[in-house]
Parts: sequence; structure tokens; C-alpha cells
Amino acid sequence: MDVIDSADPAARAATPGESAATAPDEAETFVLRVEGLNAFYGDFQAVAEVDLDIRGNEITALIGPSGCGKSTVLRCFNRMNDLIEVARVEGSVRYHGVDLYGPNVDAVEVRRRIGMVFQKPNPFPKSIYDNIAFGPKIAGYQGNMDDLVEESLIKAALWTEVNDKLRESAFALSGGQQQRLCIARAIATSPDVLLMDEPCSALDPIATLRIEELMTELKRDYTIIIVTHNMQQAARVSDRTAFFTVDAEREQRTGVLVEFGETATMFTRPTQQKTEDYITGRFG
Ligand SMILES: Nc1ncnc2c1ncn2[C@@H]1O[C@H](COP(=O)(O)OP(=O)(O)OP(=O)(O)O)[C@@H](O)[C@H]1O
Ligand SMILES: [Mg+2]
Repeated sequence: MDVIDSADPAARAATPGESAATAPDEAETFVLRVEGLNAFYGDFQAVAEVDLDIRGNEITALIGPSGCGKSTVLRCFNRMNDLIEVARVEGSVRYHGVDLYGPNVDAVEVRRRIGMVFQKPNPFPKSIYDNIAFGPKIAGYQGNMDDLVEESLIKAALWTEVNDKLRESAFALSGGQQQRLCIARAIATSPDVLLMDEPCSALDPIATLRIEELMTELKRDYTIIIVTHNMQQAARVSDRTAFFTVDAEREQRTGVLVEFGETATMFTRPTQQKTEDYITGRFG
């Protein structure tokens, strides 16, 4: 898909006539740049005027009270909201400099590059092997599938637990293993960004810790954006945190971005009273 392909930093660097002094720097530092994002469901405005820059090889956490629009914003990052009939998005979301909502952008290709892991592990009713192989097969993967399955499971820290039962049903795995399988499945199509919407909320503390460790390993290769209700989790794993809340001054229960910055700073010296109230548990 042309437009997205031209966003590939390697391809762009090779583009003749492009001066090193122009846009590439920005497109390399910021994997995603959101400007003036408004999201609606029919007449209801769920999110207003969000500006957010996501840096590569970092973990960005989206936090805030229920209904403030975290999942909505996350879905705007890979055009998942397209699949909701009443949803509408305004503003720009640029991925390596290319507007994801521009003409000629193929949403399926967007979702391959910007993969998603959901709250509840949702493996396909297939074998462990086929869960991983399914996406690449559809995308016409030409390489060695056994190697790809193994690599993906190794990256998702699941290989040693499942290598002797690849042909067994994915449903035979524990919840934490199923979630790592879903991460392996997302990785198998060679994405650049992983979106995770409360990926640990259905897991016990040990499985949660395993996923958190995994995220920290994965950020070497991927850019990760995680929605979490767990403030300790945001503080433990993320480099930057975006705090959203419902704007009480608006007629509707519209979500707005209150503060965005380095996690260490936000959790110790937030600049906004609303952020402080939320992270200290006085609100939310
Ligand atoms: N498919 C939909 N149709 C209509 N309204 C929706 C839809 N999805 C979300 N909303 C509304 O948009 C607002 C933001 O929802 P969203 O799911 O993004 O919030 P959230 O911050 O992820 O909440 P939670 O923490 O509970 O998951 C809410 O008021 C919600 O009711
Ligand atoms: Mg949500």
C-alpha cells in the first residue's frame, strides 16, 4: 500500500531529492503524532482536541477514569474505530509523517503495522501454531512458517512453555499464556507499534508481572501504547503517561487530555491539580 510504504523510514531515506534537513527527523522521533483529535459516536463527542506525540521504542501509558475515552483514542491509532458504524474521527493522526486518515491509506495495512492486543485474551479457536500462522498466511508470507512461529513465540516469552504442544488448542493455555499468545500473534505480522487495551486486567498478579516484563523487553523492537487502570502498572512500565479525564465544563461527558509527560515526573510532580487528585486516589 503506497502511502504507508512511503512512510517507511528506510524507504524514505533512500528517496532521491529529499534533503536530510527536512521532515525525516520528526517522523523518526515521533512514530505517531496526534493533532486536534476529536472522536464521535453519532452526536456524542467522546473525545475532544487531543494532541499527543508518541515516541519510538517507548511505552506510553494512557490513564484516566472510566469513560474518559482512553480506548477510543487508542482505537484511533490504528483505525479500529472504522469498524464501529457510528464512530467518526476528526483531526490528524500521522504515522511516520503520513496521515492515517488521508486518502489512499489502506486500513488493513495500517492495522498490520499498528497491531492490537485486547483486554480479554482472544485466541482463535485453533491450535497454538495456527493462531500465529493465520495472519502471515493471509498476508501471503513467503518465508519459513515454522521459523516465524518459533520466533514470534520466543519474542512473546511463551516458546519454552508451548514448544512441545504447538498443535494443541490455544484454549488449553492459561489466561496469561493466552494473552502472551495474542501478543505473539500480533508480533507475527511484523508490526511497528503495539496497542494494548488493559492487557492485564483479566490476569492474576504473576501473569501480570510476566506481561509487564515482556513489554519492557519488547520496547527495544516496538513502540507500545498501553491503556491501564492500574496506576502502579503505568508507573512501573511506561516512559510517558497521558492522563485523560471527562471535562466537567462540557455539556456531554467528553474526554480531554489533561496532562502528558514523562511518567517519573507525572507521578511525582504533576503540573495539573486534576492529575494530582487522580494519581493520589482522591478522584476517579
Ligand atoms: N461503540 C460505542 N458507541 C457509542 N458510544 C461509545 C462506544 N464506545 C464508547 N462509547 C462512549 O464513548 C465514551 C468513551 O468510551 P471509551 O470506551 O473510550 O472510554 P474508556 O476511557 O476506555 O473507559 P473504560 O476505562 O471504562 O474502558 C464513553 O462515554 C462511552 O460510553
Ligand atoms: Mg476502555
